[in-house]
Amino acid sequence: MKITISRIAPLLIFIPILILRCTPPNLCDPMQNTGIGPIEKLDLVPVNTNVAAEGQVLYDQLCRVCHNEINQMEGPAHWGIINRRTPEWIMNMMLNPTEMAQEDPIAKILAERVNGVEMPDMNLSEEEALKILEYFRTLQ
Ligand code: HEC
Repeated sequence: MKITISRIAPLLIFIPILILRCTPPNLCDPMQNTGIGPIEKLDLVPVNTNVAAEGQVLYDQLCRVCHNEINQMEGPAHWGIINRRTPEWIMNMMLNPTEMAQEDPIAKILAERVNGVEMPDMNLSEEEALKILEYFRTLQ
């Protein structure tokens, strides 16, 4: 994908805010923060493309109304999310979005950036969330 200044600009603003506002320090690093919720540790095996395809179907049904891969909509774009967040954080965001938006420093900032619109809890099962995570792992 072509990298243009307009794509990078939001990051230039967002990253310093994240560094200034996250406490404690381990939660400041998005690649260390595992989020708040039922998932503490995930051991990932290589991507299973069949499971990813099932995840994409769920994504189309449940998530696409507010998200897509490339553009910020109601919620953030998901391309490359696996390189910006830990898999545990992504799972907890899917399974426990309300508490995440209230307590997790990264999710809090995301919620503020979209004018207080918060991601709804859609009562996903862990199995469904894992399928969507598998789809996210193909978006890079
Ligand atoms: C009604 C709109 C809405 C729906 C439906 C929705 N989301 Fe969200 N999502 C948001 C908003 C708004 C945020 C920003 C954080 C917040 O407000 O809590 C977000 C944030 C996220 C994030 C964090 C993004 C990042 O860059 O760190 C992930 C991951 C996510 N959503 C996944 C999903 C998945 C998977 C689904 C479908 C199962 C879904 N969302 C459905 C609105 C939505």
